[in-house]
Amino acid sequence: MSNLTNKKILFIICGGISAYKSLETIRLFKKKGAQIKTILTKSAKEFVTPLSIASLSQGKVYEDLFSVENETEMDHIALSRWADVIIVAPITANTITKLSQGSSEDLASTVILASNKQIFLAPAMNVRMWEHNSTKNNLQTLKKFGYKIIGPVVGDMACGEYGEGKMSSPLDIFDTIHNFLSKHEKNKKVKALVTAGPTNEYIDPVRFITNKSSGKQGYEIAKSLSKRGFDTTLISGPTNLDIDDNINLIKVETAEEMFKATQKNLPSDIAIFSAAVSDFKVTEKKKDKIKKKENITINLEKNIDILAYVSNHNSMRPKLVIGFAAETIDLEKNAISKLTSKNCDWIIANDISKRNSGFESDYNEVTIHYNNNKKEKLSHKKKSEISEEIVDRIVNQMN
Ligand code: CTP
Repeated sequence: MSNLTNKKILFIICGGISAYKSLETIRLFKKKGAQIKTILTKSAKEFVTPLSIASLSQGKVYEDLFSVENETEMDHIALSRWADVIIVAPITANTITKLSQGSSEDLASTVILASNKQIFLAPAMNVRMWEHNSTKNNLQTLKKFGYKIIGPVVGDMACGEYGEGKMSSPLDIFDTIHNFLSKHEKNKKVKALVTAGPTNEYIDPVRFITNKSSGKQGYEIAKSLSKRGFDTTLISGPTNLDIDDNINLIKVETAEEMFKATQKNLPSDIAIFSAAVSDFKVTEKKKDKIKKKENITINLEKNIDILAYVSNHNSMRPKLVIGFAAETIDLEKNAISKLTSKNCDWIIANDISKRNSGFESDYNEVTIHYNNNKKEKLSHKKKSEISEEIVDRIVNQMN
């Protein structure tokens, strides 16, 4: 994609000597027809003027204030939703620290905190500041939030020193974003379906069989897919989680409902089955609440295996079928067996007996088993990071 005419870029400029380079970066995007809105932090205005940015970008320049005019025209939430991508260039050590703490003290940090889009940061600072442990730790935190870092590079600095900390060139920044937006555009035509959460299998109108799945990993995968532009549908069992509006969310309760919703949303190019579907349902659900004095026996029967059904029906099989294997023993053996028996391309195995990992936790530790006998371990980290890494691999596979 060389043309960026329908692409919307929110450009945030912080205060630093390399702020002048943002003029050239904006010019490169403008040449390709992108729509640009800019936020200038208070200190950025010491280095570049709102007028020069407005003339070059031919778009609105927000100065870093909550003004009545701005908020009525497009509030800070709408501004973060408007963008396809957000770039902060240059970003200073001070703003890196603020963002790593989730600060929302000014317009730039508030928009970033409220964003559901991919955020790119192009740091620029003195070499000692760049090498300081505090900066390194804060950047690690930002990477965990899913922010992508461009540069910095080694070179002569405005302060007279030499080393790493110089902002990447406008062309390098442009190329990285252009590449991201090209894939984003391509992914828009790719349908992805994700199942998540538990299912409830009713015994009577008020009681059901379920499991401890929180749905967190599946929701994070859906968010990561949508952030990369995929046309994402999330079929979810009962959870307490929220999801962005740009994801087509279908709420279900039982395995049967999940199966029907899945069928209805095929064909899909990618399908990721992360739901902890109940293997059994009650054969005869009681119409009225069972009373204590009743003597009851509950008969169970098998639910349909949604993943196995989809992956074994050629007419509906997505190009990439990914299953999960939640195990307490023989993780690898069981995962590989599910990879074959359920005809998956990949199985993502996790040990749910571990503390602070898997079911209910915000963290996970998984191994991806591929159908070419290869495997890859993703070490213990937040489910949001695991999902980013899984989606990185999906993007590579689909390309
Ligand atoms: N799955 C499914 N439909 C089912 C059961 C499981 O789609 N009725 C999918 C899950 O979403 C997951 C994979 O199959 O991607 C494996 O699920 P898991 O619960 O680990 O395995 P089971 O097949 O249920 O086998 P077991 O409980 O015996 O380990």
